[in-house]
Parts: sequence; structure tokens; C-alpha cells
Amino acid sequence: MIYLDHAATTQLRPEAREAMLPFLGARFGNPSGLYAVGRDAQDALDAARRTVAECLGARPPEVLFTSGGTESINAATLGIAYAMRRAGAGNHVITSAIEHHAGLHVAQHLEELGFEVTTIGCDSDGKVSVTEFVRALRPGTVLASVMLANNEVGTIQPIEELAGILREFANKASHRVALHTDAVQAPGWMALDVEKLGVDALSLSSHKFGGPKGSGVLYLRRATPFRPLLHGGGQEMQKRAGTENVAGIVGTATALQLAASGSAERAARVRALRDRLREGILAAVPDAQVNGCQVDCVPNNLNIAFGGLESDTLVQRLDARGIAVSSGSACSNSTWEPSHVLMAMGVPIRRAVGSVRFSLGETTTEAEIDEVLRVLPAEVAAVRAVGVPAV
Ligand SMILES: Cc1ncc(COP(=O)(O)O)c(C=O)c1O
Repeated sequence: MIYLDHAATTQLRPEAREAMLPFLGARFGNPSGLYAVGRDAQDALDAARRTVAECLGARPPEVLFTSGGTESINAATLGIAYAMRRAGAGNHVITSAIEHHAGLHVAQHLEELGFEVTTIGCDSDGKVSVTEFVRALRPGTVLASVMLANNEVGTIQPIEELAGILREFANKASHRVALHTDAVQAPGWMALDVEKLGVDALSLSSHKFGGPKGSGVLYLRRATPFRPLLHGGGQEMQKRAGTENVAGIVGTATALQLAASGSAERAARVRALRDRLREGILAAVPDAQVNGCQVDCVPNNLNIAFGGLESDTLVQRLDARGIAVSSGSACSNSTWEPSHVLMAMGVPIRRAVGSVRFSLGETTTEAEIDEVLRVLPAEVAAVRAVGVPAV
């Protein structure tokens, strides 16, 4: 198989698997246990927390382990917004139209809870509008949640700039506005430093960087108002109840450390492969266009709109040829559900429904890219011959 869907998930790194195995066997203790096997698990947890903190430029108590990106995003958004409102700071939240569904849907849930939410748009490259962000700020704003790298088109968002705007705003307002970023697509491709980014909260999902599924990280800056999502025991500094997934956490730390090391070299190598794929497609396939920006984006992402076809059919045909890619649209009950990200970017619906995401990984080879380039043009032509059902 030629796997070009690394934005969906990645294979567990062998080093992470090796690090996890003892905790699925003899080192099975509950970290809360006061005896040897419990202390052993607690030591492993502490070491993993130190490692993750180091990778993010954070302090260990600011690192919480969760069940994944979705939980981290939900916990940060609900937890901070709720605590800020309780403290009387206000009930207005800003988010963007291009967030992952975890971010979009938790914002909708906030509205159901009586919060006011402003959703800012983006430009045709998939970059959120700083002008709209500034315009959205008001005295009752308590939280802004904007992703770091988009999962569909890869565009990197101006998080440092937004953090600067919020700092200035806080100087004038009587309270600060917390900033959360969904950084799920970033590890391995760009340096992650919470101080440099200027964020109060940051979410990660382990399986996107060679860690196990069902594990994630929430960075929560010291003293950020926060109400836990999960209630129960006092684990994770009273902020995330539940017996810790020790093996998952150990795998997360091992994978994140490996992803963080050599990311500049990895990014350069994969960018060259991605550019080869892009140029090859544009040269060989008529009426193909790049969605989004290929400069200020994660280097492994290529989103292409193929005119005159429906992407699910192309994805299925490529699968039959041993190539795994992802489609940005879903057609159910004869109605089109094009990607909300492409719609926000202003991509015409007929192009959006023919869009395919190729996401490379660190194991992707030149030979794989060349094989895709060999197979793709004929498959696109075959799907185009079928035509697109009326939109
Ligand atoms: C940008 C982004 N945020 C959040 C998530 C959710 O992560 P998970 O499904 O691991 O909870 C994903 C997964 O696709 C993602 O790409």
C-alpha cells in the first residue's frame, strides 16, 4: 500500500511500541498505588510528563494527558470558557470556520449553554482573518480558539500574531482572554513552543505523530481558569479524572520526542516530495488546481481539486490500485456535503466535491510518489468519464 493519509493517522513508531509494551505486561500498576508496582507506574508517568513538557517548552504540571485531540479540544474550550464565565469575566468566545469538527461542534455546544460565539472566516489560502478576529473582540470575550495547522489544506494560522493582539487587548480590558490552539496537525513538521506561540492551551493527538490512538495531550498554562470536563478522582493535578492510560502516555512521550527531533530536516525532505507530487499532478492532469497555500503550510499536505469528478469515486479507484488518500467531501442520500474548510475558503462547490487530500509522512519515498504520478492521470480520466451527478 502507498499510504498518503498521514493527516488522518500515522503508524505507531516502533520505539513507542517498545516503550509501551512493558506497561501492557508486568509493569501494570495503577499510578495511584502506594506500593512498588504503583510507584513504578507513577515514575513512568512523571518521566513522560517531563518529556512532553520539554518538547513543548512547558512546565511539567502544565501537561495533562487525555484520551486524544477531541477530548483535549473539548476540555480546553468548555473548561476555560465555563471557568471564565463563572468568574464573571463574560461569556463570549471566538473561534474560526475552519476548525476540525471537534472545535466546531464544541463551539456549537457552548452556544447551547448560553455562550455567545463569533466564528471568524478565512481567505482563499485557508488563513483566518486577523481583521475579523480584532473586530470580534469585545469586553465580554473570555476565550479564543483557533487551530495552528489546518487538517484539510495544511495552512498554518497566525497564532503568535493573535496572541499578541490578545495581550494588547488584555492591557486595556479588565481581564485577559485565553487563547487555545488545536495543534493536532503540527508535531513533526514545525517546532512547537508554547511560549513563542503565546498560547494558554494547546491540544495534541498522539496517533497523528506516531503515538497510539486514544491518547492525547492538553497543555494548560499555569493559573489559566479551568473547570475539568471529567469529574472523579484527583488524577492529572485534579484536572482530568480517571486512572491514567500509562502505556498510552509512555508511547505518547516517546513518539512526541522523536517527532520533535529533526523536524526541520524532515520537513525539508517531505516538502520536496510533496512539491514533486504537486508539480507532477499539475503537469499530467488537466483541470487540476491546488486548494490552499503551499508556502505557509505544513509540508506534508497537498489538497487538489480535480474538476469534473466526485472525489469519493476517485479515492475508491485509487484504493483499488493500492493507494490510500482522503476525500474532502461526502455524498450521502444524493446530497453533497462538501468540506466546510473548502467552503469557507470560497472554493466553488463543484470543485470542492472533487477535492482530494494527499498527506505524506516521514516514511514516504520518491518511488511511491512516482508510482502515484504514474497511476493517477488514468484514474482521474476514468472517473471523469462517469461524470458528476447534479449538485
Ligand atoms: C486538526 C485536528 N484536530 C482534532 C482532531 C481530532 O483528533 P482525534 O480524532 O485523535 O481525537 C483531528 C483528527 O483528525 C485533527 O486533524
